[in-house]
Amino acid sequence: MQPAPSRLATRTFDLDEVRSEFPVLSRRIHDHPLVYLDNAATTQKPLTVLDRIDSYYRTENANVHRGVHTLSQEATDAYESVRPVMQRFLGAASSREIVFTKGTTEAVNLVAGSLARGYFKKGDEILLTGMEHHSNIVPWQLAAEATGAVVKVVPVNDRGELDLGAYQALLGPRTRMVAVVHVSNSLGTINPVRQMIADAHSMGVPVLVDGAQAVAHGPVNVQDLDCDFYCMSAHKVFGPTGTGVLYAKEEWLERMPPYQGGGDMISAVTFEHTTYHEIPHKFEAGTPNMAGVIGMGAAIDYLSAFDIEEIQRHESQLVTHATGELEELGGVRLVGTAAHKTAVVSFLPEGLHPYDVATVMDRFGVAVRSGHHCTQPLMDQYGIPGTLRASFALYNSLDEVDRLIDAVRKARKFLS
Ligand SMILES: Cc1ncc(COP(=O)(O)O)c(C=O)c1O
Repeated sequence: MQPAPSRLATRTFDLDEVRSEFPVLSRRIHDHPLVYLDNAATTQKPLTVLDRIDSYYRTENANVHRGVHTLSQEATDAYESVRPVMQRFLGAASSREIVFTKGTTEAVNLVAGSLARGYFKKGDEILLTGMEHHSNIVPWQLAAEATGAVVKVVPVNDRGELDLGAYQALLGPRTRMVAVVHVSNSLGTINPVRQMIADAHSMGVPVLVDGAQAVAHGPVNVQDLDCDFYCMSAHKVFGPTGTGVLYAKEEWLERMPPYQGGGDMISAVTFEHTTYHEIPHKFEAGTPNMAGVIGMGAAIDYLSAFDIEEIQRHESQLVTHATGELEELGGVRLVGTAAHKTAVVSFLPEGLHPYDVATVMDRFGVAVRSGHHCTQPLMDQYGIPGTLRASFALYNSLDEVDRLIDAVRKARKFLS
């Protein structure tokens, strides 16, 4: 069977029109028009998402799955209608494979925490990469501590690319899990996850992909990738904070023990024994973030209306322009120059601390991230405290890239 098309593409991409749909973009910061280039941290929200959350609270709010009254049934329908939206968006085979979570962090913790109870044993190896976000490191360390498993790391080269030969050599009879970031949040590198999954599967090893930075910038189809787990956060793809998805193959969800206990995830409870609800509900304990999930559905509808390749072309222009201008400036170290990269430009003006530069840039209305971007091991490898990171979204313009460069120039002059 062909995977369901994950994106619908009914709108032509028009930058001015898109920008007008994000109210916060018209703000002024320190008397300058805001240039928001911190999209890898969180994206801004379009009116359709804001309106959907507002109308949910104004007209539909009730607890889901529990009430027979009309409002509760409407809230349940609205909440559950997002599951097939996420299924189509990620190209999953069934909406039973879509677990709602707080975000990527909770999705990884869910898998690592659940597998720590019965799957991992002493001496097993969990294979990560040197460019993982802390969210895809620490949960595995916790699982390793609890079970006696060990964490191994695939090396990254100076350009910010994974060493695939080393990866293949590290995959062995003790490997029980591979966890890899699809797109690096601090470098923008797009990892060859399809190949890595095929390699892992040839050894019978499951793979979890951290898709937090991937879903807003390119097509994702979990059936095509054949990953066992895929994690994402709504707030990085124009949706609200506090919601996200764990995609997991049905056989894994059936096999894994629950991650948290509580209401909604049970079938029957006695003091002696509890039976669990069917998947995916087995993994959704307690009152969920209804408004957040419904807002996530609106965000995915928003993004899916565009041809993702048009967005990719636009963002790639922004990356190319920013990279070229930074090179032209001179005295700037680019961090992350992989052949396949997207939407992120990380850099370090020589002799200056990224925190100081970002602080001065903010005085000119330019919002960029400074620091280690929750990838401390990677920064340690490069021997730097962190970088300045400009991360782009579909609403950013070439003029904004020029403002970025101008702000770097001014910050440099001011600080030296
Ligand atoms: C690559 C990557 N993984 C995981 C996360 C964690 O996402 P969240 O904080 O939404 O759970 C982030 C957030 O920056 C990220 O960039």
